[in-house]
Amino acid sequence: MKTVLITGTSRGLGLELLKVFLENNWTVFALSRNTKSFENETEKFPTTCIPVKGDVTDDSTIQEIQNALKSRTKQLDVLINNAGNVKKCFGINHVTSNDLDEHFQVHVSGVFRVIKACLPYLHQSDSPFIINISSRKGSINKVNSGAYRILLPYQIAKCAQNMLTACLNQELKGSKIKVFAIHPGSLKTEVAPPDADTEPAIAAQKLFHWIINDTKPSTDSFYNIIDGSILEW
Ligand SMILES: NC(=O)c1ccc[n+]([C@@H]2O[C@H](COP(=O)([O-])OP(=O)(O)OC[C@H]3O[C@@H](n4cnc5c(N)ncnc54)[C@H](OP(=O)(O)O)[C@@H]3O)[C@@H](O)[C@H]2O)c1
Repeated sequence: MKTVLITGTSRGLGLELLKVFLENNWTVFALSRNTKSFENETEKFPTTCIPVKGDVTDDSTIQEIQNALKSRTKQLDVLINNAGNVKKCFGINHVTSNDLDEHFQVHVSGVFRVIKACLPYLHQSDSPFIINISSRKGSINKVNSGAYRILLPYQIAKCAQNMLTACLNQELKGSKIKVFAIHPGSLKTEVAPPDADTEPAIAAQKLFHWIINDTKPSTDSFYNIIDGSILEW
């Protein structure tokens, strides 16, 4: 049975990913600060839905992840770093340095922390993937073109996350692990952008099929999972 660890499964894209993987008979380690919000899934899939209570900004979560993995599996096939925060503070006068730190803690240090916790288990898989849920708004080229209303903390953090993805691919070159940066679409979730046009359940289906598809694209690109296009870094 295949195994996946997904962060931020309480709502939005993370919750829909949890449902898709469970319905396709994967064992899912569902990391969330609020494991109560997916009690339905835990009840429906008592042996394959494994809640892991944790905050990605907290170092104690490393131990929580490792305890959960150790008790259930020797290998992890896929890690999806989905947890994300978006504070809608537009304009430098409405942004504090603390806002930058909070976003960096989730999208960069949080992703790094979860990857470190999972790495020994990913190495045991025949075909391991790390999927970092990024955003089109982290693209430097797009920002330079004036494509977006600037949301400083979120965009800086997603851009830094993309650099983490690229660096890890270089570091892990000699291993089987591949790391991907994915834009999941403009989703109708709690943090929906004004142009949100996609149900998170659709994005979750697309990402699931992208992951199980045998022909994997190169890791040196940044992918839009909705239309399959390649985004500028
Ligand atoms: N929505 C979009 O259009 C869009 C576009 C591009 C990229 N994205 C990215 O896609 C991902 C999912 O977004 P979404 O739209 O589904 O957002 P969402 O509905 O706001 O869900 C965010 C999830 O992340 C969790 N989370 C936040 N901070 C966390 C922390 N410190 N530790 C653990 N979990 C934490 C939340 O848990 P709690 O319930 O505990 O708060 C929640 O489950 C994010 O990385 C986001 O940046 C979204």
